[in-house]
Amino acid sequence: MFELPTYLAEGARWIEEALDRLVLPADTRPARLHAAMRHSLFAGGKRLRPILCAASAEACGAARGAALFPAAAIECLHTYTLIHDDLPCMDDDDLRRGVPTCHKVYGDAIALLAGDALQALAFEFAAQTPMHALEIVRELADAAGSVGVVGGQVEDMLGEHLPPDAERLEYIQLHKTGDLIVCACRMGVLAAGGSPDALAAATRYAAAIGEAFQIADDLLNATATAEQLGKAVGTDAARGKTTALSVHGMDGAKKRLQELTDAALQALPGFPGDTTPLAALARHIAARKN
Ligand code: IPE
Ligand code: IPE
Ligand code: MG
Ligand code: MG
Repeated sequence: MFELPTYLAEGARWIEEALDRLVLPADTRPARLHAAMRHSLFAGGKRLRPILCAASAEACGAARGAALFPAAAIECLHTYTLIHDDLPCMDDDDLRRGVPTCHKVYGDAIALLAGDALQALAFEFAAQTPMHALEIVRELADAAGSVGVVGGQVEDMLGEHLPPDAERLEYIQLHKTGDLIVCACRMGVLAAGGSPDALAAATRYAAAIGEAFQIADDLLNATATAEQLGKAVGTDAARGKTTALSVHGMDGAKKRLQELTDAALQALPGFPGDTTPLAALARHIAARKN
């Protein structure tokens, strides 16, 4: 029988072992840089993007291993965005994944450069995918770029202390968070040699869970504890961020979470294979506690 906690734990172990093998050792010159990269990478993230990448490959009938390189790529890219997001010139946060942020331990300059290097590494991994590597690199570049995660981060930052605005919220959710989640799922399908129908299903599924993921993050920022999340809480309100909560309120945000979970589940028949893990992941993302 399928058990999500087991699936999550196995997926996290799978990607962490691969990253440990693939990323240069911490004593490689320049040692301070490699130590900083590993500090953030191995601090214990949930690994949801690589797990979604693998589950999308499995939903196309492939083994998880087919998605290893894109899964490693998306976790490196995601970790780079977190390191830069925490810098004093951005969200200025001290705690991430339960440990001091990269810049707190290694200084701003090394943290900036560790993020840069992790981004480059993401493309190096994506390019090593046995099937459809070029398309996968292209997907990653689109998701990472100025109308992807970077664009989302810019709108998130420029929106600070502005009146809540539903249109800006949609842009931020779509790009700051949604694009990497859609990219993870689409790369999994491509790495598995999935059909155009499967690719379309992955896009629909992931767009819904991507928005849900950010709504859950906004709710947790207001309701959870730092111990639970491994990062500071209450920071969105303090910085006047545009969030699901500031725009829709608690009840509105929770209602939207339910609608998005339903939409994600409705996309699953478009996959040819077993979608049990993707269905469980969609429910988990809406209900997550960390
Ligand atoms: C945090 O992502 C940043 C957002 C996009 C909200 P995660 O909640 O997936 O962070 P980790 O990888 O588990 O640390
Ligand atoms: C982080 O978003 C998203 C990216 C790094 C792209 P937030 O700033 O909302 O997330 P946390 O709360 O720091 O994880
Ligand atoms: Mg931010
Ligand atoms: Mg932040």
